[in-house]
Amino acid sequence: MSDFRQKGLFDFRKESRDTTITIEELRKEAEACQKCNLGYSRLQAVVGEGQFPADLMFVGEGPGEQEDKEGRPFVGRAGELLTYSLNKLGIDRGSVWISNVVKCRAFEKVGTKKVNRPPKSEEIKACAPILQKEMELVSPRIIIALGSPSASSLLGKAFSTITQDRGKWFSYKGIKVIPTFHPAYVLRQKGKGYDRSFELFLADLEEAKKALTQKEDKTWDLPLFKKSDD
Ligand code: URA
Repeated sequence: MSDFRQKGLFDFRKESRDTTITIEELRKEAEACQKCNLGYSRLQAVVGEGQFPADLMFVGEGPGEQEDKEGRPFVGRAGELLTYSLNKLGIDRGSVWISNVVKCRAFEKVGTKKVNRPPKSEEIKACAPILQKEMELVSPRIIIALGSPSASSLLGKAFSTITQDRGKWFSYKGIKVIPTFHPAYVLRQKGKGYDRSFELFLADLEEAKKALTQKEDKTWDLPLFKKSDD
C-alpha cells in the first residue's frame, strides 16, 4: 500500500495552513513548480477552475492528455461526462470548483505513446500544498472525490475502496466528502455495466446536491483550517 493511502493528506496539511494566496499566485506557483518529476514532463500545470468560493468542489486524479494541452481540468472525454452529468442535475459547471489531486499529467511511455497512469504517492504529496490552498480559496461545503486516488489522498485510512465506500459520507477537516466513481471509470464500462455505474455516479452527485439544501449539521460545521483551540 502506498504511503498516501495509509496517511492521507493529514500528515502534511499543516505546512500550507497559514497561507493566504490569490488564484493568480497559485497558478504561477503551479506553473513554476518542479517539486516532482511531473513538473519536468508536463506541457502545462492544470490548476482547478470554476467559481470560488463555491459550495461544491470536485477533486479528480490529475490532468490527462487534453487537460495537459489546454491547461484546464476535465476537458477531455471524462470531463465531457462530468459536464453532461452536472447539466442533467441542473448544476452549472461554472458554479462549482473542479480540480485534481495533482496538477501535472502523470504518464508512462509505452513505445512512442504516452499512457496516463495514476499519480504516485510522492507526486500527490508534492502537490498537496497547492490543493490545500485551492481548498482555502474555494472553502467548499462538500467535496466530491472522483475515484480512489482522490478519496484516498483526502481521507487516508478512513477510505477503503470505491466499490465499498462510494456514496458514503466522510469528513475532511469538517468538510463533507462523498467519494464516487471517476467518470473515466464509468466510460470504461460496457453495456449494462456502463448503465449501472453511470446511474450510481449520478445518484452520488444528486446526493451531494441534496445535502447542499439541507440545514447545516453543526457537527460538520467547522470552518476550514480553523484550529481546534481557536
Ligand atoms: N481525469 C482527471 O482525473 N482529471 C482531469 O482533469 C481529467 C481527467
